[in-house]
Amino acid sequence: MPHKIILDCDPGHDDVIALLLAQGSPEIELLAVTTVVGNQTLDKVTRNALAVARVAGLADVPIAAGCPRPLVRDIEVAPAIHGESGLDGPELPKPLRDVDPRHGVDLIIETVMAHEPGTVTLVPTGGLTNIAMAVRREPRIAERVKEVVLMGGGYHTGNWSAVAEFNIKIDPEAAHIVFNERWPVVMVGLDLTHQALATPDVVARIDALGTRPAKFVVELLDFFGRMYRESQGFDSPPVHDPCAVAYVIDPSVMTTQRVPVDIELSGGLTVGMTVADFRAPAPPECTTSVAVQLDRGKFWDLIVDALERIGEVEA
Ligand code: BDR
Ligand code: CA
Repeated sequence: MPHKIILDCDPGHDDVIALLLAQGSPEIELLAVTTVVGNQTLDKVTRNALAVARVAGLADVPIAAGCPRPLVRDIEVAPAIHGESGLDGPELPKPLRDVDPRHGVDLIIETVMAHEPGTVTLVPTGGLTNIAMAVRREPRIAERVKEVVLMGGGYHTGNWSAVAEFNIKIDPEAAHIVFNERWPVVMVGLDLTHQALATPDVVARIDALGTRPAKFVVELLDFFGRMYRESQGFDSPPVHDPCAVAYVIDPSVMTTQRVPVDIELSGGLTVGMTVADFRAPAPPECTTSVAVQLDRGKFWDLIVDALERIGEVEA
């Protein structure tokens, strides 16, 4: 039985690769895609999602727009990493279809409530605004969701401040809600995703597939790589978001550790920090775990295999 997921995202170069990985993996049944303000404004990331649906051949999966701003804070976007469009680099095709008329938060709730308890996994790869709103609006989803496997945070590092990661930092109050719910949370943070570097050998493997979706990914990685070099000093870009999808496909692609995690909301220097308490064995009531070590070979095989399965998509 494939794993049913809802991808809640802000495309975003690496969000697109997460979407392609989900679409090209038989282990995943993609029930819905929802968008949230993050890498760019909501209208931009939603347009990007619709355009990418065409690149990926994602015909029947609903795509709905969610929250246009964080719960409490002002909007903070990331043009230094993702450009003005949120997806600079490749030429984006004109979307072939319209956005789903439902609000993204409603689509999340409806989808979870329409499936058997314990069968739907939420995979947020942007700020956690939609997920927090959904569980506040319909608290019953907290026990129906199988788990929340999110890209965000970092127990030893930050990228949007010394100690905070972008997805958590832009809406820490939402993250606080999500990490303190009853559902299990797997935090696939920077400690893990900084091991998922798209090095030249990896890019060459993707390029060698020769299909349009593969070329699209190479063009994305080219821009993303340049931005990461210039603004963060990386030789090769860390491809964060697909790591969360990869965990759902095959948890053995990484090691995880159960550990209490909470979100700093008030620290002057540390707001948005994911504070993980490694001091003692996790207590029985602990519902959070963090990703630790990536099997790099397995991870890139999943991506290349997914792109190979997607193959050539009709324009
Ligand atoms: C996260 O921030 C975004 O820019 C990426 O898409 C990823 O989800 C990494 O910190
Ligand atoms: Ca993202």
